[in-house]
Order: sequence, then C-alpha cells, then structure tokens
Amino acid sequence: MSKQSVSQRVTAPSLRVRKQRGEKIVCLTAYTAPMAQLLDPSCDLLLVGDSLGMVVHGLPTTVGVTVEMMILHGQAVVRGSSHAFVAIDLPFGSYERSCEQAFDTASRILCETGAQAVKVEAASGVADSIAFLTGRGIPVIGHVGLRPQAVHLDGGFKARGRSKEECARVLEEARATDAAGAIAMVVEGVTPELAAEITQSVSCPTIGIGASAACDGQILVTEDMLGMFDWTPKFVRRYADLRSTVSDAIETFAQDVRSATFPAEAEEYRLVARK
Ligand code: KIV
Repeated sequence: MSKQSVSQRVTAPSLRVRKQRGEKIVCLTAYTAPMAQLLDPSCDLLLVGDSLGMVVHGLPTTVGVTVEMMILHGQAVVRGSSHAFVAIDLPFGSYERSCEQAFDTASRILCETGAQAVKVEAASGVADSIAFLTGRGIPVIGHVGLRPQAVHLDGGFKARGRSKEECARVLEEARATDAAGAIAMVVEGVTPELAAEITQSVSCPTIGIGASAACDGQILVTEDMLGMFDWTPKFVRRYADLRSTVSDAIETFAQDVRSATFPAEAEEYRLVARK
C-alpha cells in the first residue's frame, strides 16, 4: 500500500487533535457501499455498527449479529469511502471471553475489511482487552453508558446514570476505557451532566448518542436521522422523511406498472438499423 493511500483518510491521532482544538467530530453509521459514498465527504468517522442487525437484517436486538456479518458490511463501507475513518463493532460474544479472543476477532476484522479500528462495549474486563489490542497496534473505540449488547441484562434499552451509584459506575468505566488507551469512546444514553463530566475527565474524544452536546462529537444511526422508521428514540433529530418518499415512489411505480404506463417508449430498446 502506498504512503499516500494510508494518509488520505482521517486518522486516529487527528481525532484526538480535534478534541484538543474544540472541533466537533461528525460520525454516522454506515452498512453499505452506496450509503458510505454519500456520507464520506461530510463525516470524520463512519461506524459499521452492530445496529445493522436491527436496521438491515430485521433482528430484534444486536445480540444475534455475527463476525461474518460485520466483515461483509465492513468491506462494503471501506470500498465506498476514501476520506472518513472507518470503525467496526466487535459483535456480542466475539471479544468478552479474553484478551486473546478480542485480539483474534479484531485482527481478523481489520485484515479482512481494511477498516482502521474496532469498537467494543465496556463489559466487565474489557479495559484489559483494550490495553491488549492497543499494545499490539489495533486502535479501539470504547462504548460506555447504555450498552445495547447488554439489553437482556438491563431489561431493555434504558438510559444510564440516572442515580448517583450508576453515574459513578459509568464514569469509572469511561476512565478505565481511556486509561487503557482507547482512541475515542461512544457515550450512549446518559444525562448532559454525566456526559460533560466524562468528556472533561478523559483525554480521548467522546462521541455522544443521546448524550447531549457536551460530547466532543455526535453519532446517529443514519437510517434514524433520515426518517426511514416510523419510530425513533427521543434523542434522534430527523433530517429527512425518506420513509414517505420511498413509499410514495413505490406506490407510483406500482400504479404505473398496473396501468401499463411504465415502461414508455423512451424506456425501450430499439433495433439498430444496419447499413
Ligand atoms: O451499533 C451502533 O450503530 C452503535 C452506534 C449507534 C453508536 O453502536
């Protein structure tokens, strides 16, 4: 690989510089090459999140997502982008058992996709794995607060840090994630006060989702902010209403096919006259 092709993308150190300069970091999720192409010019970071299990594959939670699914979508996003830093979630069950398991999964994902980093949720002992991976050259993004992979333990997708004890626990997880060498951390579903405290007490950039403007950057699930679903969480701002646009287009296509007004002459092939 040429020197130039490595340095064209946003890098892990440059994300930290953005925090130091007070420049907000723009992140969105991406699962496919065409969407990555659309997002790439405006985003600093594209996350191939395991939310793809729900958004693309119709799963009820992220728990059923596999390493193979992450690799397939990760390859597509890397192919569709050339500017943004690309990070890929390690799915549930693929990293929590030991540092070695986390290394095997992370190195396989990075080798097979060409992405720059992996993301892990702050389950018990995961700080050790973050240190193990970063010590071996793998950039890791942490994920604290609401942890979607712990949905069954928590009894749903619930905001975190609403009691003093919980605040202290999340803050502790964030500090451990930072001390272990994470290049950034997603902070999900916490109060503005806790988001501000985490952001001030860690050296790496915090990327908020449902965690207020106190974070160093923001991420949303792209399909949520584009209005692809009839329900979205309270913290999502909808920047488009693609669900209506797509439904209307499909209904019009169906009418055109049924009334035989599609295809028209201009949409037909003609014989080429031979000389
Ligand atoms: O899986 C995901 O998409 C995520 C983001 C929403 C932060 O973890």
